[in-house]
Amino acid sequence: MKLTILGGGGFRVPLVYGALLGDRAEGRVTDVVLHDLDAGRLSAVARVLAEQAAAVPDAPSVTATTDLDEALRGADFVFSAIRVGGLEGRAADERVALDQGVLGQETVGAGGIAYGLRTVPVAVDIAQRVARLAPDAWVINFTNPAGLVTEAMSRHLGNRVIGICDSPVGLGRRIARVLGADPREAWIDYVGLNHLGWVRGLRVAGRDELPRLLADPDLLGSFEEGKLFGTEWLQSLGAIPNEYLHYYYFNREAVRAYSEAEKTRGAFLRDQQAHFYEEMKRPDASALTAWDRTRAEREATYMSENRETAGAGERDADDLSGGYEKVALALMRAIARDERTTLILNVRNQGTLSVLDTEAVIEVPCLVDANGAHPVGVDPLPDHATGLVCAVKAVEREVLAAADSGSRTTAVKAFALHPLVDSVNVARRLVEGYTDAHPGLAYLK
Ligand code: G6P
Ligand code: MN
Repeated sequence: MKLTILGGGGFRVPLVYGALLGDRAEGRVTDVVLHDLDAGRLSAVARVLAEQAAAVPDAPSVTATTDLDEALRGADFVFSAIRVGGLEGRAADERVALDQGVLGQETVGAGGIAYGLRTVPVAVDIAQRVARLAPDAWVINFTNPAGLVTEAMSRHLGNRVIGICDSPVGLGRRIARVLGADPREAWIDYVGLNHLGWVRGLRVAGRDELPRLLADPDLLGSFEEGKLFGTEWLQSLGAIPNEYLHYYYFNREAVRAYSEAEKTRGAFLRDQQAHFYEEMKRPDASALTAWDRTRAEREATYMSENRETAGAGERDADDLSGGYEKVALALMRAIARDERTTLILNVRNQGTLSVLDTEAVIEVPCLVDANGAHPVGVDPLPDHATGLVCAVKAVEREVLAAADSGSRTTAVKAFALHPLVDSVNVARRLVEGYTDAHPGLAYLK
């Protein structure tokens, strides 16, 4: 079984490879092909993987290439985890937005739109190549903004592309933990878009345990989302939002904290990773040790500005390993070996949320088997959540239309319609700022 990883020189590839090393079952991945545009990054990551595999018999073979078509041919699974414009681009996404007084974040608000406008044309090209060169492959999309990018790819690959994110998994796991439930036995009633969803219930043995959590301020304040959003707001909502909703519900505080930060998240990661890849050029350095140190620092500082504004303190030790690689492996196993399971994934709506059309990609629990991911029926969202989901989906559609037509006017519309962009004039200036900053947006005319 051949797994091709696009963005194979990326920092989180060793997480995926580590998960593969732990999979001893028949039908497991035997060949890993790393593809990246940057040969230096490929050899850095290959060094880490070699150290990971050193003590493991029959470790999956690893090859690396900068030729995309060669990487795709014969693939059974394609993981796409690319970063168009690199972390320098992410830092620019943040800066341009903050200069206009609005949120610049990788996936949310103006920053997410800019990143989407840059990424969609590249993702579409990949999808078309997969359709041509590996039509039977399943594509697992990690590339952010994951919902939007999955939808762009689904126009060429249909249901053979599935988007993943570890945020809802982490959220479900934390809620189960504080309730004393086994996450494997809990049914998590979660729905929305990627980075824009809500847990409305958690059923164990047919009983919804979430009301017990919402009624207990001590329990509610004891985990990440309780600290981030505050117990009163969670009780008011009657649901537990995805952590990324902090950017909406506490937008003013988040924008202020991001503007005042010494470095934005993207700039911090740009510098941190530049240091790691530089270190990998030294033949005497232990690749795995350097990688793990860098990873631990990244995880400990995740959303630190948001947590600071909320007075949430340090992250819980249990939350420090996201589970990114576990979702990917569980999904591959379920499809490749028909090991039926339930996972929260980004798939086409197909009537699940009646306010959206059938092709809109949403994030929802899915039954997964050899035939792919099938979204399960869920209760409708309350009006306030439906409003946000519909508004953000409309923005995503403008991004897709702008990427398709190259229309600058449509790009302005995408920014202007976003609930976190407060003026059409700001939207116009954002398009100017982003097209100046990113050569990858030169297609907007
Ligand atoms: C969460 C999100 C991912 C994101 C990751 C890393 O797990 O769901 O989409 O890529 O965090 O965030 P960072 O700020 O460290 O790049
Ligand atoms: Mn995510």
